[in-house]
Amino acid sequence: MEKLILLFSLILAPASVYTEDFKTKLNLSPSNNSHKRFKREWIWNQLHIMEEINSPLPHHVGKITSSSRNKNAMYVLEGEYANTIFKVREDTGDVYAFERLDREKKSEYELTALFIDRTTNKSLEPPSRFIIKVYDVNDNVPVFVQKVFNGSVPEMSPVGTSVTKVTAVDADDPTVAGHATVIYQVIQGERYFTVDQSGVISTATADLDRESQSTYEIVVKAKDSPGLHGGDSSTATVIITLSDINDNFPTFKQQSFHFKVHENVRVGSDVGRLKVEDIDEPQNRNTKYNFVRGDYRDTFEIIPNAFTNEGIIKPKKPLDYEKIKEYKFDIEATDPTVNMRFFKPGEQKSIATVTIEVVDVDEPPIFSQPSYVYEVKENYLTKNPLGRVLAVDPDAAKRKIRYTLRRSSPSGDYVKVSNSGDIFISKHLDREASAWHNLTVAAQEIMADNRLSDIESHTQVYIQVLDENDNAPEFAYPYEPKVCENAAPGKVIIRISATDKDEMLPGVNFKYSLTTEDSNFTLVDNHDNTANVTVKYGQFNRELVKIHYLPVIISDNGTPELSSTNTLSISVCKCDEKGEFTFCEEAAKQVGVSIQALVAIFICILTILVITLLIILRKRHKKELTVLRKHVAEIHEQLVTYDEEGGGEMDTTSYDVSVLNSVRKNGMNLEPGPCLYAQVRKPTGKGNSGTGEMEIMIEVKKDEADNDGDLLPYDTLHIYGYEGAESIAESLSSLESGSSDSDIDYDFLNDWGPRFKMLAELYGLEPNEDFVY
Ligand SMILES: *[C@@H]1O[C@H](CO)[C@@H](O)[C@H](O)[C@H]1NC(C)=O
Ligand SMILES: *[C@@H]1O[C@H](CO)[C@@H](O)[C@H](O)[C@H]1NC(C)=O
Ligand SMILES: *[C@@H]1O[C@H](CO)[C@@H](O)[C@H](O)[C@H]1NC(C)=O
Ligand SMILES: *[C@@H]1O[C@H](CO)[C@@H](O)[C@H](O)[C@H]1NC(C)=O
Ligand SMILES: *[C@@H]1O[C@H](CO)[C@@H](O)[C@H](O)[C@H]1NC(C)=O
Ligand SMILES: *[C@@H]1O[C@H](CO)[C@@H](O)[C@H](O)[C@H]1NC(C)=O
Repeated sequence: MEKLILLFSLILAPASVYTEDFKTKLNLSPSNNSHKRFKREWIWNQLHIMEEINSPLPHHVGKITSSSRNKNAMYVLEGEYANTIFKVREDTGDVYAFERLDREKKSEYELTALFIDRTTNKSLEPPSRFIIKVYDVNDNVPVFVQKVFNGSVPEMSPVGTSVTKVTAVDADDPTVAGHATVIYQVIQGERYFTVDQSGVISTATADLDRESQSTYEIVVKAKDSPGLHGGDSSTATVIITLSDINDNFPTFKQQSFHFKVHENVRVGSDVGRLKVEDIDEPQNRNTKYNFVRGDYRDTFEIIPNAFTNEGIIKPKKPLDYEKIKEYKFDIEATDPTVNMRFFKPGEQKSIATVTIEVVDVDEPPIFSQPSYVYEVKENYLTKNPLGRVLAVDPDAAKRKIRYTLRRSSPSGDYVKVSNSGDIFISKHLDREASAWHNLTVAAQEIMADNRLSDIESHTQVYIQVLDENDNAPEFAYPYEPKVCENAAPGKVIIRISATDKDEMLPGVNFKYSLTTEDSNFTLVDNHDNTANVTVKYGQFNRELVKIHYLPVIISDNGTPELSSTNTLSISVCKCDEKGEFTFCEEAAKQVGVSIQALVAIFICILTILVITLLIILRKRHKKELTVLRKHVAEIHEQLVTYDEEGGGEMDTTSYDVSVLNSVRKNGMNLEPGPCLYAQVRKPTGKGNSGTGEMEIMIEVKKDEADNDGDLLPYDTLHIYGYEGAESIAESLSSLESGSSDSDIDYDFLNDWGPRFKMLAELYGLEPNEDFVY
């Protein structure tokens, strides 16, 4: 089979030339350069066409040719864009474009060329694929990727500091020189900023001052290489913000400041605020305040507030209106962190005058001393004051002061404080009871209307009670010495020591001596405030003396010298060979009878007397109840009926009126004999109605019961009566228990001697009517 050779014509001239050339050869003439191009090794299966051709459609693209000659054959195009955009002349093979092409939309089209027999539709050659390329013309302007760009640069930046970068994009073919090249230019705000060819915007001046203008809006133009088109361009806005640097000093808003402050203002509190203005942004305001005239650095400090930049005046020590009424000083405000590159002479310091007026406050009195210490001898009592406290009104008013004793320890009015502050001892002070008397004294100012001021101040008064030798020495311990009956002479029985309630200073010296030389014992002073008691003759006779009493005089060396006699009770003991005690006589304890003990004994005796009296009374009472005792059972019987409350007024069955009835009927002869109740004969009237008589009867009985003091209270009997005879439990009746009491035999009391004679008489015998109590 013969091969089909398709030849494609291609124009390889430079774009500009080519365009001209192209325009002249548009009248459907078949391309004639095939031979030439073939020789120059052109891409044989490509056709080319310019985009955006303005001449009338269709536009000739090129020619496809088959080497075989067949009259009946024709060219056909196939593919997506065949017969729509591109068409071929059947006979010549010329390809035409029937649409204006745009490279920026589609830059290549792929088609298939066929050479077929008209009648049979049979392909005379194998199909051949080829590409139609669209050539670029500079038909697009550069476009900014954003309409608005943002940028920021510190103020006062040097010339050429980069701010931001803008970008514009050209849709044309970047491979064709100049078609997609973008040229930037600042067209508004070029005095302050420039743009380079890569789109970087930088500062064009070094004095961009945020404080005069903080944002700039500049316009940047982008265009591509001039020449081909009329310099079409697009623009974008760039908003440039200047960021702050610390290039401004603070300035006082006022020339002078005036503050008023109470003299009792707390140290460290807020007295006043100095306001300054710093046009820099807050983070670049670092005002420092300094004293420049009237140096009160020791009195006040000025602390800058980090947020408000104010200078807060605070007192460093207490103010005193009475000393300084007004403070006046100059303060300078400056900012040490300002960038000195922008230093402008005379501008860096701002000075203001501050006046602080101290306002007088009524202050509490001030004591001349925080505390007072006095000494006073114990037992010393005088009308003269011991001392005095003194306070003054610190205010200008200089009011008089009233002193009051607020607290004293120990309490007990030992010390008094006069209105004028004099301290008096009002009772004997005993150092041994309390060595210190500590007082709290208050001072109040006396106001104009004689009223006392509400505010008061306090001082402490310490009164030390000095010792006086007012206590004699005594044994340090309650000694209980023992001696063997066969003790040899010189044997040490005990070593005694003494103590003194008075202050025992290192120099204290106790002397020991016996009241008499005539003694069975010797006293040896050890000269170390102790003494040894030794046996003088030895061989004690237990039969004669079991306990030897040895009075010892102990004296101290105080002024005046005091001494006391203390008695040692020395028991004489039986001893074994080794000298160990085998049997000792109990040494009778020396009973020191104190007043308290006496009182206690007296109370005991009184209690015993009262108890005895009560017992006697009870006994007598029992005797009176003897009669009653005998009839306890009958009383129960009678009373039990009354105990039942029954069902109210209407209940007649549970209320046993037989007793009363019997009284009414039989007069006085109640069957169980002599009743407790005094019996009253009812006036023998004709009882017309039982109830009327009954009423009178009850009233009479009640009256009797109320007026008879000798009887047991009726109610008492009533309560116990309820138990009845059937109760399993023993009767709780006091009557029964009373009777059982009497069963105890008190005869033994007679054996106890004369002291218990009285009790024996009371309890031991049967009721004896003639005893007295
Ligand atoms: C083709 O070009 C040659 C010279 O390059 C010219 O002589 C000839 O007439 C041309 N043929 C046609 C059909 O234009
Ligand atoms: C050849 O193809 C054309 C169009 O594709 C069609 O109209 C015609 O009938 C075909 N002829 C034959 C003989 O198949
Ligand atoms: C630029 O800044 C403005 C205001 O600060 C903001 O609204 C905008 O989104 C910013 N634009 C860009 C591109 O960052
Ligand atoms: C009194 O004050 C003195 C000295 O400060 C102190 O030693 C003493 O304990 C105080 N006494 C009382 C009862 O407060
Ligand atoms: C006193 O008695 C003690 C023992 O109790 C003894 O050590 C001391 O030597 C005696 N002193 C004299 C002076 O004998
Ligand atoms: C000494 O002891 C004897 C008995 O041992 C006694 O009779 C005598 O009275 C005692 N002397 C004195 C002074 O107590």
